[in-house]
Amino acid sequence: THCILIGAPVDEGQRRLGCLMGPAAYRVAGLSRTLGDLGHTVEDRGDVTPRAPGNETCANPAVHHLPEMLAWTEALRSAMANALPDGMPIIMGGDHSLALGTVAGVAQHAAKLGRPQFVIWLDAHSDFHTVETTTSGNLHGTPMAYAAGRPGFDPFPPFPAPIPGENICMFGIRSVDPAEHAAMQETEIAVNDMRVLDEQGIVAPLRAFLNRVREANGLLHVSLDVDFLDPSIAPAVGTTVPGGTTFREAHLVMELLHESGLVTSLDLVELNPFLDDRGRTAKLMVDLVGSLMGRKVFDRPTRSY
Ligand code: ARG
Ligand code: MN
Ligand code: MN
Ligand code: MN
Repeated sequence: THCILIGAPVDEGQRRLGCLMGPAAYRVAGLSRTLGDLGHTVEDRGDVTPRAPGNETCANPAVHHLPEMLAWTEALRSAMANALPDGMPIIMGGDHSLALGTVAGVAQHAAKLGRPQFVIWLDAHSDFHTVETTTSGNLHGTPMAYAAGRPGFDPFPPFPAPIPGENICMFGIRSVDPAEHAAMQETEIAVNDMRVLDEQGIVAPLRAFLNRVREANGLLHVSLDVDFLDPSIAPAVGTTVPGGTTFREAHLVMELLHESGLVTSLDLVELNPFLDDRGRTAKLMVDLVGSLMGRKVFDRPTRSY
């Protein structure tokens, strides 16, 4: 695979400074070398620079850094849409608001190819607020709602081709605000919260979703939030929520995604290197990308997931 690294030092989608150091931390932790050692070619396109922010406003007074987010969304949508024809984009974030742009870029490309888009959201949070419903005002809590075509994103350009709920699958969910919960009830989104993982494990629901992606010949975007992982193994994140996935569950998800051969783009989000413990979270994230891109202990016959 030709891997295209894109730095997205976005910090304005939440209030704790530090995510802008994410791209540098992934480079220091050896993301490029890890991919190269697996036999992939790697191209680092550097960090995306957004245009100067305008002066857009919205009705919700809680929302902060709206003009900055509009500029990032535009820049990242183009970066993603431009990279997809050339290989597999890996976005090094940056907080999760960057997905307002990256998922839109995938949608733009998918529409051009006439193929459906699917998203796997690996996160403690559903990020299903709109600009109107967010009470924190942190736009990193909104990208999934934008991609699903929820109304309430007025200052943003319309999402290129809204993703039907049945093409969205979430894992690791354990923190959902009431407005998000109510909105998701109206959709077909597969919300695999930690209760589902505890009862069924991660393999069965993931396999079911991957089968559907394959049958539809879809593009599959994976958005990996650091807080998908339990904070005990991944402390470098602003929004820690206890009860996250374990080291073993996370690697298993990545290995199954690799074996599926279906993933076409990836976001790495919410790493805050300022909160890390001697780089362990950055290194864990790089190792997870390694598993997603084919690293394994023993070769096994590929199963039909
Ligand atoms: N639901 C909360 C909010 O809207 C938390 C969002 C956390 N999102 C994230 N990408 N870490 O503020
Ligand atoms: Mn700022
Ligand atoms: Mn998130
Ligand atoms: Mn999260």
